[in-house]
Amino acid sequence: MKPIKVGLLGLGTVGGGTLTVLRRNREEIARRAGREIVVTMAAVRDLEKAQKYADGSIKLTNNPFDVVDNPEIDIVVEMIGGLKPAKDLVMMAIENGKHVVTANKALLAIHGSEIFAAAQAKGVMVAFEAAVAGGIPIIKSIREGLAANRIEWIAGIINGTSNFILTEMRDKGADFADVLAEAQRLGYAEADPTFDIEGVDAAHKLTILSAIGFGIPMQFDKAYIEGISKLTRQDIQYAEELGYRIKLLGITKRTEKGIELRVHPTLIPERRLIANVDGVMNAVLVKGDAVGATMSYGAGAGAEPTASSVVADLVDVTRMATSDPSNRVPHLAFQPDALSDAPILPIDEVRTAYYLRLTAQDKPGVLADITRILADLEISIDAMMQKEVDDEKAQAEVIILTHVTVEKNINAAIAKIEDLSSIVGKVTRIRMESLNRN
Ligand code: HSE
Repeated sequence: MKPIKVGLLGLGTVGGGTLTVLRRNREEIARRAGREIVVTMAAVRDLEKAQKYADGSIKLTNNPFDVVDNPEIDIVVEMIGGLKPAKDLVMMAIENGKHVVTANKALLAIHGSEIFAAAQAKGVMVAFEAAVAGGIPIIKSIREGLAANRIEWIAGIINGTSNFILTEMRDKGADFADVLAEAQRLGYAEADPTFDIEGVDAAHKLTILSAIGFGIPMQFDKAYIEGISKLTRQDIQYAEELGYRIKLLGITKRTEKGIELRVHPTLIPERRLIANVDGVMNAVLVKGDAVGATMSYGAGAGAEPTASSVVADLVDVTRMATSDPSNRVPHLAFQPDALSDAPILPIDEVRTAYYLRLTAQDKPGVLADITRILADLEISIDAMMQKEVDDEKAQAEVIILTHVTVEKNINAAIAKIEDLSSIVGKVTRIRMESLNRN
């Protein structure tokens, strides 16, 4: 069979890794795919710099539309990132009848529904394993390996940069800003690090996981997003004293009222495997009704780990290219006419447990006032710890762990606690998840 021809949009870290893996494992990949997969064209920003990859076999251009318009190309691999011009390029490739492989989480989270509808209409595939958790085959795992299950929840460490920062803050007792600078120096952070540290990158990935887990459309605009930039060393240390680690988790959960879709710093019991996923590594827990909880762990970024997912998609697309489109695995795991309209719950309606830290005047009755406020809102206390912080000012820090309650009640309680004359400043609130197998 003649080789399938691939055009790359972008030849940076992931593009270079993809070429390296395709070349190194050429025979093995052909044995799997049933025919050879060859890159014949690449769009690059710097033609001169890209010569090192070209070796005469790849036509280089600096106009990406040359690739999507080239009738010789069967599969376009989009590795430019961002929304513009990536969206136009992907839509044009689909329009031209080409299959697309993309690592672009933002593009899919925001324009996925439109892109998949266009691909469906045209009978082409859009594969996106590399968009979530780099080298971990979590899309295939949820979409195919767990297809028997009713997925109950998915929770993941899906941003390596923020996980690196949290790990360093805990291990070295370092401050957020210092560790962020280190992450940037090491090249982990996205071009705009706010996407990493403010939870946006994780929310893009979570939106995709939620869509394939529950068979709902992509709804990034309804995700609740809170990053790690306001976390203090102190909270990380107190959490540890109480037996917890703080991780930036993406959590999506099916409830009776709708779907929770949220990214925020989360206290996790330290005995959970995922609480021990450190540095830039990613991990995703998926809870299915039949299988229970499963965890996938691995590199969430990097040239070859991400290329591992891109090439796996190329193999998949190559195998299925001649198949009847109606018999392929649906893009979003569920048949496009069988998507659910379950609403995404506003954060006020989310149910979880909480860590609260507050500074109070150290005098009789303060704790009684606080516990009365919590009791009136039906919030049950799980644990409490008092730390003397300032003898001179007679102020103490109080840490309270609550049982599961609804977010709007904790917000009401926090407002009332902050109004007490004996409370100094704001209450710090961090959500907690037990991530039980059951
Ligand atoms: N910037 C991302 C991360 C890498 O830190 O996980 C790729 O998605």
